[in-house]
Formats: sequence, structure tokens, C-alpha cells
Amino acid sequence: MLTGKRILLIVTGGIAAYKSLEAIRRLRERGASVRCLLTRSGAQFVTPLSLQAVSEQKVYSDLFSLTDESEMGHIQLSRDADLLLVAPATADILARMTHGLADDLATTALLATDKEIMVAPAMNVRMWEHLATRENLATLRKRGVHVVGPNAGSMACGEFGEGRMAEPDEIVAAVERYFSADAPLAGRRALVTSGPTHEPIDPVRYIANRSSGRQGHAIAAALARLGAETTLVSGPTALPDPEGVQVVRVESAAQMLAACEAALPVEIAVCAAAVSDWRLAASANQKMKREGRDALTLELSQNPDILATLSTAGASRPALVIGFAAETEKVLEHARQKRARKGCDWIVANDVSAETGTFGGTDNTVHLITTDSDNPENWPRLSKHDVAERLARRIADSFSGAVAAA
Ligand code: C5P
Repeated sequence: MLTGKRILLIVTGGIAAYKSLEAIRRLRERGASVRCLLTRSGAQFVTPLSLQAVSEQKVYSDLFSLTDESEMGHIQLSRDADLLLVAPATADILARMTHGLADDLATTALLATDKEIMVAPAMNVRMWEHLATRENLATLRKRGVHVVGPNAGSMACGEFGEGRMAEPDEIVAAVERYFSADAPLAGRRALVTSGPTHEPIDPVRYIANRSSGRQGHAIAAALARLGAETTLVSGPTALPDPEGVQVVRVESAAQMLAACEAALPVEIAVCAAAVSDWRLAASANQKMKREGRDALTLELSQNPDILATLSTAGASRPALVIGFAAETEKVLEHARQKRARKGCDWIVANDVSAETGTFGGTDNTVHLITTDSDNPENWPRLSKHDVAERLARRIADSFSGAVAAA
């Protein structure tokens, strides 16, 4: 429920604006009060009268209206809300938010607010895919703006693809997740890699490792429990899909990298998979026969480093990239070097020497190295489930800190 929550809904100029009327109705059904701010181009798609009728509140629309300013100034308008929701959010408003423009009531309210902002982008697929929009959205996400949608489908302009505004139900669900006290990652997207990879030798044989995927799967589940929209890219494991997580199953490192890149943009990436360093330079199309050979030499070439690739992904680099360092000796020293070499933000170091039973086991002893790499956090021995819970909380705290500081 959203009882008592005050939402400032900013309606910008997109054909999806008609869906905002339905979103208002549903938000109000759940107990929220919705005050609307309509931009000039938004008014080409819905009238102030319709918004006023469904919200049962005065609709604000002009920065320089003397009556509006005397009743409720633009600063007050943006502060008298618990959440600012921009739906539909056009490519134009996202660009103006990115650059901090304040040339109308909507952008002024968005710049003056001390509250969090959620946007529901809606635009033509080419505009959505344009590097300018992607970079703008990546910047906004880094600043802590929550994003819901868009969806793929056929569009009003006749094209097909991503860019349709999220449905009213999805917007309401995202708002509810945001307000539910224990979902600090609502509106954020996370990507987790987990498990081993299988690198084919021939159609029936492969190179693999002993990773069970337990730690990565537990992290995906913990992030989802805190409200993050989570994609788990998993190599072959015997584990069930974690609840509330979108699972993409892959076999090889190359497939894992492709699936990770397809999941971007995300704010959080946790690379917990034990990716094979090597793959066959050329795997055989047919089962390799023993007959006629005394020995077999396999030529291996290096696999892509998924963690390093995500850490240097330019405009679509996640705001927080976390790697794992499974070491058998000099755990902290190697982990620090790995953090620097791969360019990730945090590294979770763990001792996987045989006597610890970590690889394939249920417990883990980790050290978390964050930006202050001289002072690692030494966590006690915990179950992989508890390590995941603790890490997800630390991630959520780092985002709420970033928002408070912004
Ligand atoms: O270099 P090393 O394999 O020890 O690094 C471990 C970290 O790098 C883990 O977070 C692992 O998921 C990630 N990694 C990766 N792609 C690779 C190799 C490792 O994402 N090819």
C-alpha cells in the first residue's frame, strides 16, 4: 500500500501520457496522493483538465505563472512530495535532467528537489538506442535516479522495439517497491554472474572447474530480495533458479560475456562466476577419436575477462562493479592487485585453498576490499547465504550514501 505517500507526477510530451492517467488512478487506489505537473509538450497529449479530474488536485504547468508561484512555489512543489515520478519521460527531459537545465517548471522542480526521482522512459526505439540517450540514462542512474521500463513492443510510430513506457501496473509496482522499507534497491538493476563455464573440446567433452555457483546464486537472490531487478547469468550448475531473478543460462565464457552485455545497462554488477581462463583455440565438430593417437595436445587461447570488460564498458559501465578473488595464498595482496588490474570498484577476496572447503562447500570466509583498499573488512566465517545478504546490504548502503551525498 501507498497510504499517505505524496507523489509529484511530471507528465512530459509523449504519446504514452494517456497511460499516466491510469497510473494516477491506480496510485490513488493504493492510498497515494498524486499532484501533477504537466509540461508544455505534455499538454499536447493530455489536458490539465483530465489530470485534474483523476488526481482531484490542481495541476501545475507554468514556471512563470504568478498565481501558481503565490500558491505553491516550484521549490515547495518539489519538496512537498515523497517521490518525483516522471512518466512518460521523453528523451528530451532525460537529456535536460542530465545537464541540470531549469528552463521550465518540470526541470526546475527536478533540479530543486531534495527527494528521489523515478523515471519511466518512453520514446521511439532509435531515440532509446541512441548513444546520447544511453549515456544520459547511465549518468542519471549513477546519480541515483530510479528507472522503470521501458518495455519492448510495437510503438505508436509504427516501429517495433524497446522504448514503450512501462505499463501503469509496472510503474505502480516500482513505486511500491521503492516505498517498501526493506527494498532499498527498488528501481535499480543488477547483474550477477555465477557458476563455472564449460569450454567445449568436442561435442561431448569440455573443460570445467569445481565451482558450484552457490555464492553467485545466493547474491542474485539477496539483491532481488532488496528490490533490485536482477539478472543472473549462470554457467552450468545443479542449483534451482533463485526466486524473483531473471536467469540466463549459458555454457561458455564467450556466451557468458554476450549475455552480460545484453543485460546492460545495470547499476550493479557482481562477477562471482569462476570463468575458465582458457578455451580451445578450435573445438572439434565431431567427437575426437582415440584410435590412431598416442597422445593428444590441446591448443588453448585466452577467454575474454568479463569482469574487466564490464569495468571498462564506457558509457554503459555499471556504477558499482564487484569482482571476486578466489586465492590459495597471499589472499589480500593478490586481491588488491586484481582490483587494480581489472578496474573493478570492490573485490571480495576469499581463501579457496583445499583445507577451507570453500569451493563447492556451503560456507565462506571473505574480506571485502572497497575503495579504501588499505583497510579491508574482514568478515567472520559465514554461510554463503549470509555472505550474500551482507554484501547486498553493503551495496544498498553504498547507493543510499551516494544519493544522500549528491
Ligand atoms: O583473474 P581471476 O579469475 O582470479 O579473477 C576473478 C574475478 O574475475 C571473478 O570476479 C571472476 O568472476 C572474474 N572473471 C571474469 N572473467 C574471466 C575471469 C575472471 O569475469 N574470464
